[in-house]
Amino acid sequence: MKKRIMVFGSFVVDLMGRGPHLPVPGETVKGTFFKMGPGGKGFNQGVAAHKAGGDVTMITKLGKDTFANIAVDAMKELNMDTSHLLWSEEHGTGVALIEVDDTTGQNAIMVIPSACNDIFDEEVDNLEGILDDSDYLLTQLETNMSSIEKIVDMAYRKNKIIIMNTAPFQPVEDELLRKINIVTPNEVEAELLTGVKVVDQTSASEAADHFFQKGVKSVVITMGGKGAFVSDGNKEMIIPPFKVEVLDTTGAGDAFNGGFVAALAEGKDIFEASIFASAVAALSVQKMGTTPSMPTREEVDAFLEQQNK
Ligand code: RIB
Repeated sequence: MKKRIMVFGSFVVDLMGRGPHLPVPGETVKGTFFKMGPGGKGFNQGVAAHKAGGDVTMITKLGKDTFANIAVDAMKELNMDTSHLLWSEEHGTGVALIEVDDTTGQNAIMVIPSACNDIFDEEVDNLEGILDDSDYLLTQLETNMSSIEKIVDMAYRKNKIIIMNTAPFQPVEDELLRKINIVTPNEVEAELLTGVKVVDQTSASEAADHFFQKGVKSVVITMGGKGAFVSDGNKEMIIPPFKVEVLDTTGAGDAFNGGFVAALAEGKDIFEASIFASAVAALSVQKMGTTPSMPTREEVDAFLEQQNK
């Protein structure tokens, strides 16, 4: 039976501009394209998991402003439950300023989580019932750390399977790490968290050992064009990336994490789930934007079949 997933994380409105190159400090670059739409690592991952077939409850916090409508409208369009959204009296809905290089598809992001940076302990306490009905918790580091520590602790005490995507990087206390079942940093976050420069399987394995020593059960390190390193402490492998035309890599990590948890919830192991997740990411980078670039389950299945997976 398909298990249930709680995604706890940020929603922000993405203000995305493309141009011939990314500006260096002090430079103004004349851009070529602008798009505004739903984003935020938590929301991207929640939508990716939902569209990939997951039974997702999305928890995020919005301001009482027009930007919040972008979240609510997107969720309604996707038939996602909006009744557990949190609302801030003090802060506006978060935003992210995203610059994308037209030539390379690379990006630079400044995120201002606003309402999502101020999720209160009592609001997390009130999620207990939803957590009771969930099997998996997927979270990131884009909301205030106290909210992450609180929801993880609650999930840990209830024996839920906890996946933490360590993006964007913030230092993580050992006390938090030891409660995590599966940690999913990218190679940069893995280096910042472990001190090991991750460039290949050997170094990824070394970085993974640091997480294992802290009590984490499994490690998935996404390494962009080099694929994903996956280890459960006994078995490890590199899942090679699918070769596709890249239009916009923004949100690729979110696509991976959303696809990953959706696949786990169907009973796939972390290795199979990482192949599925790589397919979700490969499809997302072929479209512009973040939340809107997440593929449907039909698209993922067709892609995997075409790739003979
Ligand atoms: O991972 C991509 C996301 O990071 C964007 O949607 C942006 O909102 C930032 O939070």
